[in-house]
Formats: sequence, structure tokens, C-alpha cells
Amino acid sequence: MGYAVIMLLIVFLCHEVSSISTLPHKHQTISLLKFKQSFTIHPSASGFCQESYPKTSSWNTSRDCCSWDGVVCDDITGHVIELDLGCSELVGTIDSNSSLFQLSHLQSLDLTGNNFSNSHISPEFGKFSSLKHLDLSGSYFSGQIPSEISHLSKLHSLRLSTVFSIYSKKLRLTTHDFKSLLQNLTQLRELDLIGINISSTIPLNFSSHLTTLRLTYTGLYGIIPESLFHLPNLETLDLSRNYELSGYFPKTKWNSSASLVGLDLSGVNFSDNLPESLGYHLTSLRSLFLRSCNLRGPIPESLSNLTRIKYLYLNRNSLNGTISPGMLSLPSLKYIDLNFNHLSGPLEDFKSNSLISINLEGNQLQGHLPHSIQNLVNLTCLILSFNNFSGCVDVSLFSNLKQLLCLSLSYNNFSGRVDVSLFSNLKQPRYLSLSYNNISLTNDNNVTLPESLYTLELAACEVKELEFLRSTKQLSYLDLSNNKIQGRIPDWAWSNWMFSLQDLDMSHNMLTSVDSIPLQFADIIDLRSNLLQGSLPIPPISPTYFFISQNNLSEEIPSSICNLTSLVMLDLAGNNFRGEIPQCLGNITALQVLDMRHNNLSGKIPTTFSNESSLRSLNLHGNKLEGKIPRSLANCKDLEVLDLGDNHLIDTFPMWLGTLPKLQVLSLRFNELHGPIRTSRIENMFPELRIIDLSYNVFSGNLPSCLFHHLKAMRTIDPSMEAPRYFGNTYYQDSITVAIKGSDREIVRILYLYTVIDLSSNKFRGQIPSIVGDLIAVRILNLSQNGLQGHIPPSFGDLSSVESLDLSGNQLSGEIPQQLASLTTLSFLNLSHNHLQGCIPQGPQSHTFERNSFEGNDGLQGFPVSRSCTDDRVLDTNDIVSGLDDEESNSEFQSDFRKGALMGYGSGLCIGLSIIYFMLSSGKPIWLARIILEMEHKIMRGRRKKQRRQRNYRRRNNHF
Ligand SMILES: *[C@@H]1O[C@H](CO)[C@@H](O)[C@H](O)[C@H]1NC(C)=O
Ligand SMILES: *[C@@H]1O[C@H](CO)[C@@H](O)[C@H](O)[C@H]1NC(C)=O
Ligand SMILES: *[C@@H]1O[C@H](CO)[C@@H](O)[C@H](O)[C@H]1NC(C)=O
Ligand SMILES: *[C@@H]1O[C@H](CO)[C@@H](O)[C@H](O)[C@H]1NC(C)=O
Repeated sequence: MGYAVIMLLIVFLCHEVSSISTLPHKHQTISLLKFKQSFTIHPSASGFCQESYPKTSSWNTSRDCCSWDGVVCDDITGHVIELDLGCSELVGTIDSNSSLFQLSHLQSLDLTGNNFSNSHISPEFGKFSSLKHLDLSGSYFSGQIPSEISHLSKLHSLRLSTVFSIYSKKLRLTTHDFKSLLQNLTQLRELDLIGINISSTIPLNFSSHLTTLRLTYTGLYGIIPESLFHLPNLETLDLSRNYELSGYFPKTKWNSSASLVGLDLSGVNFSDNLPESLGYHLTSLRSLFLRSCNLRGPIPESLSNLTRIKYLYLNRNSLNGTISPGMLSLPSLKYIDLNFNHLSGPLEDFKSNSLISINLEGNQLQGHLPHSIQNLVNLTCLILSFNNFSGCVDVSLFSNLKQLLCLSLSYNNFSGRVDVSLFSNLKQPRYLSLSYNNISLTNDNNVTLPESLYTLELAACEVKELEFLRSTKQLSYLDLSNNKIQGRIPDWAWSNWMFSLQDLDMSHNMLTSVDSIPLQFADIIDLRSNLLQGSLPIPPISPTYFFISQNNLSEEIPSSICNLTSLVMLDLAGNNFRGEIPQCLGNITALQVLDMRHNNLSGKIPTTFSNESSLRSLNLHGNKLEGKIPRSLANCKDLEVLDLGDNHLIDTFPMWLGTLPKLQVLSLRFNELHGPIRTSRIENMFPELRIIDLSYNVFSGNLPSCLFHHLKAMRTIDPSMEAPRYFGNTYYQDSITVAIKGSDREIVRILYLYTVIDLSSNKFRGQIPSIVGDLIAVRILNLSQNGLQGHIPPSFGDLSSVESLDLSGNQLSGEIPQQLASLTTLSFLNLSHNHLQGCIPQGPQSHTFERNSFEGNDGLQGFPVSRSCTDDRVLDTNDIVSGLDDEESNSEFQSDFRKGALMGYGSGLCIGLSIIYFMLSSGKPIWLARIILEMEHKIMRGRRKKQRRQRNYRRRNNHF
């Protein structure tokens, strides 16, 4: 501030003060006015306040300062004892020189909801020795809270909670100061430190006067001292969002006076059952929040004694058993949230009509919906998705529920017809979801859904036309996927939703044409798997995700597609696009996924990929692309998946791709790639590669030992890969075609733990280098149909993960190494059409292999080719893992998915999962996602069991 300004200020103050006569008013008035002058006023100073106004703007000397807004003086002494400037739009700082600290008689100071610009809390606050109430919440203070605060030994309430905003920095309180604060402030009734970084354990000594303790999100850790639950006057206890904190519930007594009204321990780890004592002792409870507390076991019956409870939130735990009828009869209950637990059984009648919101999503509840739902006249939200409810969805159930804003019944087993008129009584519905039941939506009375609708999910509801949406004008999320909508999307729909729709999913329908997509704010457009014809419609404004694969679109891809500069995913696969790929696509630097496989594209692959490229996945499989693999791909440092298979590319092996640090999947199969695969001097090539498919090319020379020498990811078994992680996200999952068990299979999702080396059907010659045995993580190894000679290296016995091994159609000679017998994971072996001789080694998997695995050799003996072999020693028949044959079980799969899991279990991970995916892609729509996950987990578990078995097998074999 300039000198002149200060002078002016002083002159101004002197003028204002001149009319003041009596002490102490004179000093106080000066102090208050100085304080006022140290701030500017800004209406949106803090996000903390619902309402605010500048209290200080009315302060002037024409009136006694004791009558000013927010100022209270002692009647007798005239000292200012209360200053309430909460939500007063102040912006500025309070430093140690502030005139505020001259008001030394203050007993109550409220400065909440202003903006003190992330300044520190001055130690001078500790000098207000009479202070009983101090509130600095939500006022953008930051830094260390001074230890002097503990000098305020008369404090009854201390509130320092921070606002959660990107602009607010954290306040900190040292463990030591936290403890001395609790020790010294013996009069404390209310302590509110929400959002302050304390990072401490909870001390034992709390004032027994304490009524309110809020320590939300303060980084507390350790165990909650049980004494806290016994504080005799405690009404509100909030320790939520301290994720390092754990606790035990008092088994018998809580606080003797049953004073507790609000309890929030969400996020605290209890790893325990909820005790019955809770319902008996906490009879005053109005709100109980125990979200994500790792609770197990049943919900105690005693909770039905909590007759005053309004808010009951036990979501995201592992509670099981049924929901007792008593819970649904609690007379005051308004909000009940039990989502994502393991609750089962039917839903009993609702005896209390006070309910406003019910969320039971993600349990295993079953049976019909109780009729008493229709009495819940004040219900605004009913979320029952992801359960096993069944029966009809009766119109009468909802006809009284006029207040309903959100209703979700999706992912259940409801069946029969549901008429749109079910919803036409609702006044202001915002969110409706019926997706993935067995219902068919009808509209016998030609009603339309209310205009207020914001989110509508009707996937797999047999929807045939859109007329019922004619009145909707605010739709933002619309999921009509997996329905029977034919023809075109009507013009009224586009004009209704042009400015509202953000997320449109009409995939898996029978739409035949989309001339244009005039959406101005779309983020996701999904029109996959329709019957769309004509040319590619280009939206006017760039969405983030644009999926229009599996249609019959044709003609050239217009270069105006490159105007969609915010595209992150573009999926045009499975159409009839022809002509060249627009070169400019390489310039969309946001693009992460570009999928154009299975079209008729010709010409060259774009060469314009720059260093700024975000490309993660490029799939151009199954086109007629020519020329070389563009070198500019080496700029795409984020590339994980590159599939250029089944084209007419003519080039040598792109060893230079090996410098891409994240490349994990490389398929170049079915091209005209040729020449030997030469050594490169660069270290650490292809460090992350897990799938390499070079089959059906004309590569020659020796097998590329140089390449095998790299491939770090295939040389170590990384246990963290065990978790079922996929390439892609919920919107797009990479898929790839690989040969599994001798036939091509499309794997619709690529798990990180797939590992494939396929060099089959080339012109490789010479011996198989023993270094192949170092690739211990490989699951599918195919070197068939080459000109390989010599022996099978004994090092193959080290391939402890291999599930499918194909060396057929070569010139291999000599005996099959005994070591192959120890490959317990192997479920497919093909050594046919070579010159192998001698005894077939026998191991735990031998019975799974058929005669044709060995046919066409010079002289192999033993099971399964012949009975007698001189050295026939069958090892460990107890350990046999049953393996089903693929063909015979395929038909079974169609009828029973769970059998597929068993099948996968027997066949090894890769093979099993690929069979499941194959089955799913030919059968029902992908809504069985949950079942897939379940099966994946089963297979994973099976795999771990198998690994144990393998270890046992090895251990036993070491004794031989
Ligand atoms: C406790 O308060 C007294 C005065 O009220 C003060 O002298 C003392 O230093 C305080 N103790 C701590 C640990 O802050
Ligand atoms: C609490 O509920 C149980 C069973 O729900 C009941 O037997 C008991 O009498 C109730 N206790 C009180 C104090 O209301
Ligand atoms: C609830 O889970 C426990 C294991 O946490 C189990 O012992 C009990 O049988 C389950 N009860 C029900 C009703 O499923
Ligand atoms: C529904 O809400 C209204 C207004 O809040 C209230 O007066 C009425 O008692 C409520 N009805 C029930 C059954 O709780």
C-alpha cells in the first residue's frame, strides 16, 4: 500500500473518530474501523456460506459501535464481547498487528466463511483470554495452527474446519498441539476440526463436557479409544473419512446417558459385526453413518429400537442376512442406504410411511416388490438396482409416488410388460432406470414421459420406438442400448436433445440410417452394432468418445473427421469403409484409441503421428492396407496395442517399434512381411511386450534369438498381473484375434496377463534356440509350420506357464525331452508332423493330449499313441486335472454360462477365458458382465490352486 494511501486512511479515520468521546468506546471503535478497513468486500469470498452480506458496510461513526451489525458489548463495562462477522464477504489477511487483537475482552468471535487468502492463523488469537467461542471455519486460513490456541482455556467451542476447495490449502495441527489443546481446554463442549491435517492417533483425554466432536478427514490413524464412546454428554461424533483409523464397538455399554444423536464413523475400519448393544443404548440416535466400515454379519435386530432415527447409512460393507421388518417400520426413518452389501431374502412390508429415500442397490435381495411401497407418498428416491428382485413391475405400485425423482430397478429379474404410463404420474422425475431385466416396455396409452427427465436408462427393455420421449427436453444421459429400435432417429428427437444430450447410447439396435448427429454437447456417442448405412455422419462438435462400429457404413471416411479434435476414442471397426485413411487423423493428439479393423480400407497407413500423440491403441486389422509400417509410429510413446494384422503390408520386421516403452500387444499376422529378424544393438527392446503375433508372413532365417533375448515382460512372472485387469476402460476394450488350440479366436477383452508368441507359418529355419525356455511367462507358444530342425530344447521344461504349445509341421527330430512332462499347465500340445522318435514322456497332463497331438512323426511310442513303451512310467495319476474337449462342450456353453467357468478352469486361463468370450460374443449381449467377472475370478482361483498343485508336484519330483 502506498504511503499516501496510508495517510489518507489516517486522516479519514481521524475524521470519523472525532465525534467519539467516551472510553473504552473510542478505542474499540478505532480498532473495529481499522479492522474493517483492512479488507475488501467480495460477494463470493467463500464457498462456505449459503447466504452472505457485508455486515461491516453499515459500520460508521454516526452510531455507537455497540449497535453495529455483528457487534455486542457488555452492558456494564461497555467492552465489545462478541464479534460476529460470519459470512461477511471479507477478503484480506489478518496479521499479528491487526487491530482485532486490541479487542481483548472478546468472549465470542465468529469469522466463518470469509476469505483470508490462505494466510496463517496468528498466534495473537491465543491472547483472547476470555474467549469462549472461536469460529474460523471455512475462511481460507492455511499453515500451522499456532500452539497458542491451547492457551484459550475458557473455550467452550472451537471451530476451525477448512473448506474443501481447490483454492484452499490445508491447515495443519501438530500431534503435540492437538494433544495439549485437548488437555488444556477443559471447558470444551464443541470441537470442530474438519479437514485439518492432524495425522495423529486419538488421545485419551477428552473434556467430559464434550457434546460435539467433529474430526472428519484429519488423517487420524490408530485405534479409536473406547473411552470416546463413553463420554457422558456426547451428542455428535464424526470421525469419518479417516481411512487409517480402526475401531471396536463397545460390546455392552455405550454412553450411559444415551446422549448420542449423530454418529458418523464412515471409512473407519471395524472388521466386525455391528453389536446388538447399539440399538439398545443409542436410543436418541437420529443419524447413523457407517459407510465403508468393513462391517460384517447381520444387521442387529436391535436397530429397530432406534425410534428416532432419520438417517441410516450402512452402505458399502459386507453385511449379510435379511433386512428385518423392524427396520422398515422405524417411525422416523427418512433415508435408508444399505447399498453394496450382501443382504439377501425378500423385502418385507414398509410399515413406516416417512421414508424419503431408499437405496438397496447391489445386494442379493429377491422376491416381489412389497405392495406397501405405494404408501410411501413422500418417497423421492428408490434405488433397487443390482439385486435379484423378480415379478411384475405393477403400475399401481408407483401411481401414488408423485414425488419420485429417481427410480432404478435395473439389473434385476423383473419380467413382463411395463407400460410407460407407470411413470406418467410422476411430477418431476429426473432419473429412471429399468435396464437389463426381462421386461418389455409398452406404451398402450400413448403417453409421454415428463419433460424434467435428465437420465433415462432403458437398455434391453424391448423398446421399439421413441415416441414416448417426445416431451423430454432436458435429457442428458440416454441409454437405449440393446433394444429393437428400427429405422432412423426422428428429427424431433435431435431437436429436443441437441443442447442437452451428453451421453447417447443406442448401440445394439436396428437403426438403419443416421444422416447427421446434430448434438452440440455430446461427450459420448455410441451407435455400435446397428444396421446403419450410408456414409459416416460427423457430429458438429467433437465428442470425447465416438463409437459407430459394427454397422454397414460405407464410402470413404471424410477428412472432416479430423475436425473432431477432442476425440479420445474413435471406433469405426466392422463397417465397409473404403478408400484411404485420412492422413490428418494422426494430428488429433488427444486420440488414444483408433479402431478401424475389419473394413475395406486401402492405401497407406497415415504417417503423421507426432511426438504429441496420445495413441494407446491402434487397430487396423483386416483391411487392404499397403506399403510399409509408418516410422512415425515410433513417436507414439504411449502405444500399448498395435494390430496391423491381415493387410497387404510389405516390409521387414519393425525392430524400431521396440523402443516404445509401453507396447504390450503387437500383431502383424497375415501380411507380406519378410526377411530375417535381425539383431539390434539397442538395449531393452520391447520391454513390456506380452503378445507378439507374426504368423502367416514370410519371415526367414533363424528364429529371432535376439528378440527373445529382450521381451523382459515374458521373462518374469509378475504376481501383480494376476488381478483381472484389461486393456481399455468400460467404454472400450481392446480385442485381438489369436490362434488358440489350433483355431483363430477373437479375444474380446485382453487381460494384462495374456502372453502369446506366435511365429507360425513363416519360413524360419534352423534349430529352436534354448533361450526360448527363458520366456517363462509365455502361455501360448506357436512355432508351427516353419522349417525348424534339430531337437526340442530341454529348456522348454522351464515354460512353467505355458498352456498351449504348438511345434507341428516342422522338421524336428530326436526324442521329446522328458522335461516337457513336468508342464502341468499345458492343456494343448501339438507335435505332429515332425521327425520325432522314442517314448512320449508321461506326466500329469499326458492324458489330456490326444493321439493326433503326436501323429505324423517317425517313431513315437507310448500313451496315447501306443500301449507299450519300454520306459513307460506314469507319474502321479492322482494329480490329474480334468480337461474337457473344446468341441464337445461348446454346445453346453450356449445353455449354461457357469459351466463355461468350469471349462475354463480345466483348460487354463487364456484358453478358458477366450472360450468364454467366444461364447458370449456368439450368445447373449454383454450385460452378463457380472457373470463374466465372477467366472474370471473362478478361473483365477483355479489357476492359483493349480500353481500350488504344480509346486507340490515339483517338490515330490525332486525326490525321484
Ligand atoms: C495451558 O494454558 C495455560 C494458560 O491458560 C498456559 O499457560 C499453558 O502454557 C497451556 N498449556 C499448553 C500445553 O498449551
Ligand atoms: C428392542 O427391540 C427388541 C427386539 O426388536 C425388543 O425385544 C426390546 O424389547 C426392545 N427394547 C427396548 C428397550 O425397546
Ligand atoms: C454371513 O457371513 C458370515 C461370514 O462373514 C457367515 O458365517 C454367515 O453364515 C453369513 N450369514 C448369512 C445369513 O449368509
Ligand atoms: C409427507 O411430507 C409432508 C410434508 O413434509 C408431511 O406433512 C407428511 O406428514 C409426510 N407424510 C408422511 C406419511 O410422512
